Amino acid sequence: MEVPDSVAAALADRDVADKTCLEAGAGVGNATAGLLDAGADHVYAITDRADHADGVRERFAGDDRVELIEADLRDVPLPDDSVEVVTAHALFNVLPNDAAAPIAAELTRVAAPGATLVVDDYEPMPPESPVRRLFAVENAAAELANARPALTFYPADGLRRLFGGRGWEHDRTRAILEPAPWTESHLTAHTAEVRGHAESLPDALGQQLITEAERLAKTTGESDEGRMYSVAMELPE
Ligand SMILES: C[S@@+](CC[C@H](N)C(=O)[O-])C[C@H]1O[C@@H](n2cnc3c(N)ncnc32)[C@H](O)[C@@H]1O
Repeated sequence: MEVPDSVAAALADRDVADKTCLEAGAGVGNATAGLLDAGADHVYAITDRADHADGVRERFAGDDRVELIEADLRDVPLPDDSVEVVTAHALFNVLPNDAAAPIAAELTRVAAPGATLVVDDYEPMPPESPVRRLFAVENAAAELANARPALTFYPADGLRRLFGGRGWEHDRTRAILEPAPWTESHLTAHTAEVRGHAESLPDALGQQLITEAERLAKTTGESDEGRMYSVAMELPE
């Protein structure tokens, strides 16, 4: 099973074998793959997007250790204290700040005493970074279309404090990708997001945002920059 290096690095020093785990924000199920590779007994993979849910079902078809749950992480359909390992790999950067605290509360509710939490995400990039400038256009388009940003970058210390406020104790924080490789296909995907948001904007405005996103993606090409971190925490027994 293919496990991205960043996921493997984040889980390498965690005890996952025979545990009941939860991947919060499953996307294509990369952390689910990492958890299974590390010996998980059962993985709940949760996403609120039907297309992601279909992709995860297809990727793990026939593997009865994986249970796909299509739900909002602000209201997880699992009982209290039912999960021993929680991962949020590249979840928080897609969460607007009004979703972060309710999701931290739900992930804490379903975590059993003694549980492990692994939160991996990208440090905020400086404003002059070419990739950050493309994300700024994406956020502008998303804000104009939905009054919500597409991407929010939380510093490691902020997420550590968010979960610390819910009783989690910090174990370690370390870099798992440095620099982060922003490939041409990443930048193309973010440009496509701008096009999607532009569909609900007046033509002239939408077109300006698309043109700027395309220009930034083209002039950047690809870029190695920024840092992906992993914060590991434990819930006291
Ligand atoms: C960038 S992807 C995460 C990638 C994945 N964890 C990985 O390691 O590759 C973010 C995922 O979180 C999901 N998500 C975002 N907000 C959510 C919410 N409120 N409830 C459930 N899933 C959510 C998105 O639908 C998407 O599947």
